[in-house]
Amino acid sequence: MPETVMGSQEHHVQIQELEKTIRVLQKKLERSEKERGQIESDVATKESLLKNVIHELQTSKQTLEQQSQDLQNALEKMQMMQLQLIQSEKMSALGQTTSGIAHEINNPISFIHGNLAPLAAYIGDLFQLIHLYHHYFPSPPAEVCLKRENIDIEFLEDDIPKMLQSMATGTQRIRDIVLALRNFSRLDEAGYKAVDIHEGIDSTLMILRQKMLGIEVIKRYGELPLVTCAAGDINQVFMNLLSNAVDAIAQKLKMIQKIGTPLDTGVISIWTEYQANQQVVIRIKDNGIGIESNVIDKIFDPFFTMKEIGKGKGLGLAIAHQIVVEKHGGSLDVQSEVGQGTEFLIRLPSQR
Ligand SMILES: Nc1ncnc2c1ncn2[C@@H]1O[C@H](COP(=O)(O)OP(=O)(O)O)[C@@H](O)[C@H]1O
Ligand SMILES: [Mg+2]
Repeated sequence: MPETVMGSQEHHVQIQELEKTIRVLQKKLERSEKERGQIESDVATKESLLKNVIHELQTSKQTLEQQSQDLQNALEKMQMMQLQLIQSEKMSALGQTTSGIAHEINNPISFIHGNLAPLAAYIGDLFQLIHLYHHYFPSPPAEVCLKRENIDIEFLEDDIPKMLQSMATGTQRIRDIVLALRNFSRLDEAGYKAVDIHEGIDSTLMILRQKMLGIEVIKRYGELPLVTCAAGDINQVFMNLLSNAVDAIAQKLKMIQKIGTPLDTGVISIWTEYQANQQVVIRIKDNGIGIESNVIDKIFDPFFTMKEIGKGKGLGLAIAHQIVVEKHGGSLDVQSEVGQGTEFLIRLPSQR
């Protein structure tokens, strides 16, 4: 075979093989392109699936967050209700005891009080009789003279009426306290009644009298209509706010004593006012220690207290808020300046 023929034959074979390789490669290319397409569409599907999943996750996360917020709210509401229940249970137990005791004290004290005036009159009569005897028998036997001197009859005549007077003041005070206790617990008046707010404040002040010794109370009462409310609960609000005011003043006096500056007097001012929009406004202001601005938002939270362990329970304001805002549709606001004092403002609709 001539070289050239051989050479061209070899080329031919080589070309054929090359073509074959090309075909194979093309097929492979086609296949891999197909696979790529497949993969691409797979990826797209997966991507959209993933997006869906992410979206669903986000939605359910939001739902969960909402649910947990709802639960949190429900829990807080339940805790408040529980507090309110415990408190009203306590108040009603206390109210029953108080009104029972008040009733029991009322009878004997009325006997004593009622007998004092006639007793004074009888004793006056007896002294008149003694004077008469003395007038008509100026020189009685020695034994009578001695007795007269020993008991110091002039002193007795001067002192006995004073004693009776101070006993009458004492029994009158007990009767006022009994009345205040009855007013304060208002057990006989369950539910909503039209009441005199000033009477409620005054009975509360009377009950706190011992705690408030040395504190000046300035009252500026306006003309108020009767307010339809749960009287016992509203008195509880006055009690909680006034107790806090007393504590705040005590804390300030303690602080002032430490620094050694001259003593201030504690002053609690109580203003009431009737506003045109049928609202009764009651302000209770003290010149006590004041509230720091970083905690003022928390003071109405249940269990928030700045007082020593065992002294404060952190319930007074939470309960006051619950009673005024939720139970009576009013509002309870606070303003305070550290070192200067605090003012609480209660608004109550006069009608319900
Ligand atoms: N009149 C006030 N002056 C200063 N701080 C007050 C006054 N009233 C309330 N506070 C602050 O608010 C907190 C919460 O009050 P409260 O709910 O009555 O609970 P507690 O009296 O048991 O601490 C108090 O610990 C006190 O720090
Ligand atoms: Mg308190």
